[in-house]
Amino acid sequence: GSGKFFVGGNWKCNGTKDSISKLVTELNAATLEPDVDVVVAPPFIYIDQVKNSLTDRIEVSAQNVWIGKGGAYTGEISAEQLVDIGCQWVILGHSERRHIIGEDDQFIGKKAAYALSQNVKVIACIGELLEEREAGKTFDVCFKQMKAFADSITNWADVVIAYEPVWAIGTGKVATPEQAQEVHAAVRDWLKTNVSPEVASSIRIIYGGSVNAANCAELAKKEDIDGFLVGGASLKGPDFATIINSVT
Ligand code: G3H
Repeated sequence: GSGKFFVGGNWKCNGTKDSISKLVTELNAATLEPDVDVVVAPPFIYIDQVKNSLTDRIEVSAQNVWIGKGGAYTGEISAEQLVDIGCQWVILGHSERRHIIGEDDQFIGKKAAYALSQNVKVIACIGELLEEREAGKTFDVCFKQMKAFADSITNWADVVIAYEPVWAIGTGKVATPEQAQEVHAAVRDWLKTNVSPEVASSIRIIYGGSVNAANCAELAKKEDIDGFLVGGASLKGPDFATIINSVT
């Protein structure tokens, strides 16, 4: 793979003050391989609690951010506010925001550009629906989503790409290592042609979708899989630690 192994835990819209306190205690107690970047993404309202209790070994991400500077945007959170509370990352383009909330490629790309302009690093998500895979459109869909990011992003050093096939998210139906590797290699090749060979070879491309403590090791062996974005299994401290420690 490229760069340092990267494992993100996306807690999605889960947790309470109590359950998050327990999870933070588990993460603080876990023995983690040193050569892995680890980031967790709590719901907005718990980010401050996590920042104040979690070891500095693990960085904190938001799951969304407003498209520009804060102001009269009811219900939104700005990149400036993330910086203010010490939150250094944001997940953008997650399939749940694309397909349930309805965010489109351009909106997501602009969010990425603004977050990066404020020094908030971006976990940029892409991935195809089952019907798109079955229609042979996996690469088309992923490249189109990549293009929208590439149209907005200039500072790729602060970006991690997460390939998350939608059919694998929360379904228990993990992509095979070969299926994931095929798309990761294609995305890296797309970056080589459309951005630069340097970005293509240095960027981390991580896999997400039903990653767990039992299937992570096989996936981690693949050449172009540089880590994981973990949903359900990131809510269990010991399982998340096992996934972090699957670095090869
Ligand atoms: O962002 C994480 C992904 O959506 C994966 O979720 O591990 O629960 O399938 P999952």
